Amino acid sequence: MIQRPRGTRDLLPPESRLWQAVEAVAREVFGSFGGEEIRTPVFEPTELFVRSVGETTDIVHKEMYTFPDRKGRSLTLRPEGTAGVARAWLENRLGDRTQPLRMYYIGPMFRYERMQHGRYRQFSQIGLEIVGADTPLADAELLAAMHEFFLRLGFADLEIHLNNLGDPEDRARYQDVIRAALEPRRSELCADCQRRLDENPLRVLDCKVPSCQVAAADVPALDDVAGDASRQHVARVEAHLERLGIPYVRNRRLVRGLDYYLRTVFEVVSPQLGTNAVLCGGGRYDRLIADLGGPAVPGVGFAIGEDRLIEVLPARFRDVALARPAVYLVPLGEAAGAAVLELARGWVREGVPVEVEITGRSLKAALKRADRDGFRVVAMLGDDELAARTVTVRDLAAASQTSVPFTAMPAFWRDLPAASARREAERP
Ligand code: HAM
Repeated sequence: MIQRPRGTRDLLPPESRLWQAVEAVAREVFGSFGGEEIRTPVFEPTELFVRSVGETTDIVHKEMYTFPDRKGRSLTLRPEGTAGVARAWLENRLGDRTQPLRMYYIGPMFRYERMQHGRYRQFSQIGLEIVGADTPLADAELLAAMHEFFLRLGFADLEIHLNNLGDPEDRARYQDVIRAALEPRRSELCADCQRRLDENPLRVLDCKVPSCQVAAADVPALDDVAGDASRQHVARVEAHLERLGIPYVRNRRLVRGLDYYLRTVFEVVSPQLGTNAVLCGGGRYDRLIADLGGPAVPGVGFAIGEDRLIEVLPARFRDVALARPAVYLVPLGEAAGAAVLELARGWVREGVPVEVEITGRSLKAALKRADRDGFRVVAMLGDDELAARTVTVRDLAAASQTSVPFTAMPAFWRDLPAASARREAERP
């Protein structure tokens, strides 16, 4: 039997409904904050990621799916979404439009990760980028949209960790500070961090190996080394968050794993997932478009790991999203069998979702199936009903039965309290 590649997943019904529901909330919320969808290719020239994410990052160094196409050009399955958005902004001259542009995306990303819980080789991100605004207000708006999204899903326990990564000049100085502090303790660092100390010392601060964390604890925080401009910028972002009542913690160790960031950086952590599986990460990237050969256009954005999000989705949201969203229409007898699709089509046209019993189950078997699959409403159509142009409707949640005229079904359906349509969710 052929099996799917390691680190990939099949997204099956009914769980796919959770993904659809989450994505609908993302479109709703990010759209309400002025966002519009952008779809960029799943593969890009390899050089795009080398120049944006950064040559010495783990992602570029060891996690990219890179391959030559038939003409020998090096292509890479996108490991993240921001680089493609920046490239598209440049290539399509989006700078000619009124700025800023708020763009969101939902789609698969690819990283050759070591297998671990919450780490996949194909995973989905929900991202939002604001390009063309350099104000602290832009960062705050982005964070407010993100916070609103999590609230709509019912999250109450997420933590936003925020830090100032300084400006690129500060970072160059900070690299020297890290090297000076850690060079004498080189032997205490893991093999990766010994390499990082030479290539990209900032990344040592982010290493999860305990001995590296002990050594890194003595390094001064970047914010202490950073210049006034970046400190003031992040302080203003914090003031906006406080005014909005959006809770956050200042995490002076937060550095992020991609090179394009400066000033504001943040991550969202779920107590259920812990710090090894971050739910969302983002920050400001004012030099990215210039580094790709364009003008100096600022940007700020984040991406949420959708796979991880689904894993810790609040129960209430899950239940509602999983409730079977249809009337189960069961024809009983030959005449009803002939008429049933016409009836179903008429209801569908009126906005009533209908699942027709098409395998010829008996009433008893159909009711059993309805219960098993979490239907709230079973509509039975027999000879008598057909003659009276009604269906006998059993509400499984309320354990009641009524006769409903064909034409009254749309109103009946609309009046059902959606909140109690949860039967499927009660199943293990
Ligand atoms: P990132 O921190 O590399 O940032 O990824 C963002 C989120 O994607 C992570 O917090 C995590 O939830 C999810 N993620 C990453 N790798 C995996 C994986 N192997 N399996 C499952 N989930 C994963 C970025 O990608 C930036 N482009 C975010 C950004 C947008 N910054 C500015 N704009």
